[in-house]
Order: sequence, then C-alpha cells, then structure tokens
Amino acid sequence: MTNLIHKNLFTNQFTTKLLSWNHKHNKRTMPWKGETDPYKIWLSEIILQQTRVEQGLKYYENFLFNFPDINKLATASEADVFKLWEGLGYYSRCRNLIATAKLVAQEGKFPDSYEDILRLKGVGPYTAAAIASFAFNLPHAVVDGNVFRVLSRVFGIKKPIDSTEGKKYFTNLANQLLDKKKPGEYNQAIMDFGATVCKPLVPLCETCVFKKDCVAFNTNRVSTLPVKEKRVQQKTRHFYFFVISYKNWVFVRERTDKDIWRHLHEFALIETLQSEETERVITTAIQNRWFQKESEVKSISETFTQKLTHQTIKGIFIKVQAEKRPALKGFKQIEKEELKKLAFPKMLNEYLGKKYL
Ligand code: ADE
Repeated sequence: MTNLIHKNLFTNQFTTKLLSWNHKHNKRTMPWKGETDPYKIWLSEIILQQTRVEQGLKYYENFLFNFPDINKLATASEADVFKLWEGLGYYSRCRNLIATAKLVAQEGKFPDSYEDILRLKGVGPYTAAAIASFAFNLPHAVVDGNVFRVLSRVFGIKKPIDSTEGKKYFTNLANQLLDKKKPGEYNQAIMDFGATVCKPLVPLCETCVFKKDCVAFNTNRVSTLPVKEKRVQQKTRHFYFFVISYKNWVFVRERTDKDIWRHLHEFALIETLQSEETERVITTAIQNRWFQKESEVKSISETFTQKLTHQTIKGIFIKVQAEKRPALKGFKQIEKEELKKLAFPKMLNEYLGKKYL
C-alpha cells in the first residue's frame, strides 16, 4: 500500500485535471498510442529509452515492417537486427531486444504481470510500468524524466530526483496520483503533458491547466525544478581512427569492449585523453606495425564531434594505403563495397557517408 505523502485538496484534482487536459488539448499522435499488443509496446518503449520520439518513429515502423511479430524478431539474423538498429546508439538495448525476443518466443507468450515483465532484460521499473499499464491495464505509474519534471514543479518538490530518497518519494507520489481504472491513459497523458507543455526549457505556463495550482509557477521556481544532486562531469575522449586499406581491402574489427558500441564495427583506433598532434599518433601506429613508414597517408579528416550523455567524442580519421599487408590482430579484411553492409557507430557512418573512401 502506497503511503499518502501529498495529501491535500489538490492531489485529488491533479488526476482529473490531467485527464481532462488529455481529452481536450492533447494533440500528440504516435503509432503506439492506444496500442495493446505487448510486443509493439515493448518495442516502442525500448526504442524510446534513450531516443527522442521524432527520431524513434521511423525505427519503430521499420522494425515492425521487418519483424511484424516477436517470433520474426527472435529468428532473425543478429547482424540484420543490428543493421536496423544502426544510428540509434546505446546498443545494449539492441542486444537485450534480441535476448528478450528469443526468451519470449521460447516461452510462447509475453509475460503479463509487472514482476515478470520487470525480469526481462533491458526492462527497468519505468519500462515495466509502461508495458504493464498500456498492454494489460495494470495499475503501475510510470516515473521518467517527464514525470519527475511535472510533479516536482506542480507540487514544488525539491527532493533531488537522482537520490534514492527522491526517487522513492516521486514513485510513491506518482502511484498515489495514478488513475487506477485507466492507468494506461493516465501514464501516456502525464508523459505527453511533460513532453509538450511542462517542457524542460520553455514550458507553456501561461496556458497550462495547472497555472493556478502549480507551486513552481506561483513561486517563480519553474527553471530551478526539478533538482539534481550531482552534476555529472563531462569527459572528452579523443579517437584517432586509422582507415587502413591494402589493395582493395579495408581493415575493420568488431568491438568487444563492454560499452555502447559493442558488436559494432570500427577501424584501428588510438584513443587519448587529450588532443594530440596527428603526426605523433601516426608514429605510434607505425610503431604498432599497423602500416609501414613508406605507406601513403591519403587524408586526415576534419574533427567529428559526438555528444553523448556523459562524454563527448572527438574523432579524426586518418586514411592510409598500406604498402604491405598490415599486422592487425583480430581485424577482418573487407572489400570496400562491402563496408555498407556492416553496422558502425554513428560517427563512423558520418565519416563513411562523406565518401572519404
Ligand atoms: N517515451 C517513452 N515512452 C513514451 C511513450 N509511450 N510516449 C511518448 N514518449 C515516450
């Protein structure tokens, strides 16, 4: 049983007002809205975990087109699934997607209780609540960035959303506010409200249905809520990729590091924590015997930048035509034309798309 932590007149009205906003003003249309097939909901929620709706849409459509049901996904070649995921980033999601599809196909049915859904790989409390409420009408409130923002502002809650205590507090409150008869509709409404009205930087307070009640608006704290305990340090990593060709082959390897790019392909790489003179990096590559001193450096790219949640990647691509077969352990030699069949991280695709090859 949830403790009633914000028991005042307004908690009773919040839900009614939100659902009334949803009926009258919510214009957001998305293909998974109103959907009850757990496969489609699960797929959309995994795609949306670290991806904006606008970007996720075409991936969702494309996945459903290629894999209309979970058995098709479970029996597909993993390389094909990775290729379809390409560009979405955070590839552990794709690995979990494949593992979960196989498990569910084997069991013969999608789990239909919150606890069993939560056991699926890649499904945390937020995604489990979304699937449980949308597909099975179970009373579990979603708590994501949108929900933290809406609740912290409307109720003026200063508890840090990245602290254990804060998370517990917001989860309790969210479950208290949930419409237990229409949990799916309520959950989608609060997410849509956070995404279209109570937006992070430019919220539409003047026309908001909570204008009279919102603590943050009435005490001038909209821009300072929600509160975070820690400011995460941004780290910059410098990647020097060597695009080494020998005859008509290019040398690539599959990444095995347990990071967001695992199972994607990359070129020979030197990583540094500070930006280096490219000449020095080339000397290191020669010392590694990746190519010979006499080999021709054909081009050095501009710096490519990619911002991730906690790190910024700066990448430079050095294209080399080797004189002799390079001594690159763990690399495969691929015909240049075959490169486009492999899945690469975003920055490498940008480089390859610019036709440096
Ligand atoms: N982000 C995650 N799940 C979502 C959903 N169902 N609708 C809109 N945005 C979302």
